[in-house]
Amino acid sequence: MKRFLGGALAALLVLAGAGLAVALTGAYDVAATTPHTALGRWVLETTSRNSIVRQAADIRPPSGFTDGQVSQGAHHYKESCVYCHGAPGEDSTDWASGMRPEPPYLPEAVGEWSDAQLFWIVKHGIKMSAMPAFGSHHGDEDIWAIVAFIKTLPGMSPEQYRALGG
Ligand code: HEC
Repeated sequence: MKRFLGGALAALLVLAGAGLAVALTGAYDVAATTPHTALGRWVLETTSRNSIVRQAADIRPPSGFTDGQVSQGAHHYKESCVYCHGAPGEDSTDWASGMRPEPPYLPEAVGEWSDAQLFWIVKHGIKMSAMPAFGSHHGDEDIWAIVAFIKTLPGMSPEQYRALGG
């Protein structure tokens, strides 16, 4: 047992040393022009997804949304989100495709998340990615309106998108 513990401790020290060496020597390539490694991507995505699921667990969403909220949310989306995430009939800006991770096309990505999780993501943002926290300058009511709108994105036509939110 003692031998096993000693071995495990030595292995941990080697790993910690290797990690520290990578951080201190500049050996890791942080360029956004180099894609994430498969392992790096898995670590980031898994950590992020589990963190969001856990932290959104206590948020109670409203039972439904009004057309007024959808329209108000569309207004915010056009003002703050479309540049990075695109929309029906509108591509994201060229510079958004230079981000790592690249912002997902929201009409396709939004279905993966519950209302509470979407609220959490928009309010708190996602560390070490370009997803900003909107809670610092938007109240909860605005954020629920944004959620109300983005949930309607799947299947929305470019004409419907243009007509919403002014
Ligand atoms: C500056 C660019 C940028 C802006 C502006 C931005 N986002 Fe994001 N967003 C991102 C990036 C990058 C990710 C991916 C993060 C990741 O994969 O870890 C993301 C992820 C998300 C996700 C999770 C999607 C998924 O499946 O990964 C949602 C939902 C989202 N953003 C909603 C919004 C909304 C709503 C707005 C506007 C209120 C907004 N974002 C504004 C860059 C942006």
